[in-house]
Amino acid sequence: MSLIQLIDFSPLGDERGSLVALEGLKSVPFEIKRVYYIFATQQGVSRGFHAHKRLKQVAVCVTGRCRLVLDDGNQREAVWLDSPTKGILIEEMVWREMYDFSEDCVLLLLASEYYDEADYIRDYADYIETVKK
Ligand code: TYD
Repeated sequence: MSLIQLIDFSPLGDERGSLVALEGLKSVPFEIKRVYYIFATQQGVSRGFHAHKRLKQVAVCVTGRCRLVLDDGNQREAVWLDSPTKGILIEEMVWREMYDFSEDCVLLLLASEYYDEADYIRDYADYIETVKK
C-alpha cells in the first residue's frame, strides 16, 4: 500500500475564482484542533525530520510547491505538494521530511492535536526502534 494518501479537495469555483473549504471529520478525516502554516522558507532549507506518536495531519500547499517525503520505517515515498486542491494525509507514526520549498511556498498543516513536544520523535534511530517494536 502506498504511504501517500492523497485527498482531493473539490474547489468551489465560479467566475470570480476558486475557493476550497476544509471541514473536520468531513474532507479532513479527523477533528481539527490546530492549524499552522510554514512560509518564507529560506532557499535550501529542509524541514520536518520527525514523526508524531499520536498526531495526524493533512498538508496542503496553498501557494507554491514543496516536496514531501514520508517514511514508515519500511518504505520511503516522495510526493510534490503543488496544488491548493491536493491534500496529503500523514498518519501517526510516519516520519516526514520537506524539501525544495519554492520561494512563494505557503504550506498549510491541519493537525488533530494541540502542540505537544512530547508527541514528537525527532531522532530517526529512535523512530526506527519504536516502529520496529
Ligand atoms: P518544528 O515542529 O520543529 O517545525 P518542522 O515543521 O520543521 O518540524 O517547529 C519549529 C518550532 O516551532 C519548534 O520550536 C516548535 C514550535 N512550534 C510550536 O510552538 N507550535 C506548533 O504548533 C508547531 C508546529 C511548532
